[in-house]
Amino acid sequence: MIDTHCHLNDSQFDNDIDEVINRFFLSGGNAMICVGADLSSSLKAKMVADLNDNIYYTIGIHPDDCDTFDLNEFEDLILTKSDKLVAIGEIGLDYYHNKTNKAKQIEVFSNQINLAIKYNLPIVIHCRDAYADLLEVLKKYSPLKIGAVMHCYSGSLEFANELLKLGVKISFTGTVTYKNAVKVKEVAKNIPLDSFFFETDAPYLAPEPNRGKRNEPKYVFDTAKYVADLRGIDAKELIRITDANAKKFFNIDFI
Ligand code: NI
Repeated sequence: MIDTHCHLNDSQFDNDIDEVINRFFLSGGNAMICVGADLSSSLKAKMVADLNDNIYYTIGIHPDDCDTFDLNEFEDLILTKSDKLVAIGEIGLDYYHNKTNKAKQIEVFSNQINLAIKYNLPIVIHCRDAYADLLEVLKKYSPLKIGAVMHCYSGSLEFANELLKLGVKISFTGTVTYKNAVKVKEVAKNIPLDSFFFETDAPYLAPEPNRGKRNEPKYVFDTAKYVADLRGIDAKELIRITDANAKKFFNIDFI
């Protein structure tokens, strides 16, 4: 199985990253995508991917860090990529953390989408409390020439359907297992099988029964099993389908 979004580059893994990686593969994991969120974590994501088989990486400047975005510096990151780079992200809009710089966030998000189109890479979107503006930006690019996925989906079924219409995929974290996540469960239960895949967002958002602890990639199985139960289908079959979705989306190939 693939953990399509984790932060092995987070300092919470500095002391035991090799053990965390081993535990994932020993649990039956096949591949992980290590995600960047600013310049230094993007460089670290590349390093983690280049040092390990079956770990890929993304680079991106998160909206929380949009003030530090430098177009040339970011394009250099793409130009010095290794063959393990699979996407631009996480990028997007976050008005929960900061609603005073909306225009800047939209500008930096759009600049990174433009580069993703230029280099033909899919994008991994982060969005919090900014759904209307996010849709507006995405609609400007419609029909989008590259893949896009809404990471850590936490919105309504109605909004998910808006995204699906634009060709955006949905990615679920452990939050779907949380008791109060009623809306997300409804989405996980109802959207088409070819429209989603799974991630951990480790070290954050561990699924039940490990909620509250440091999350790690091997827990991605718990999220997939939970959604399989929600949909009343076999977990292995669901993982086979969502892994195929992720492989196609990120253009990665392995057994
Ligand atoms: Ni993340």
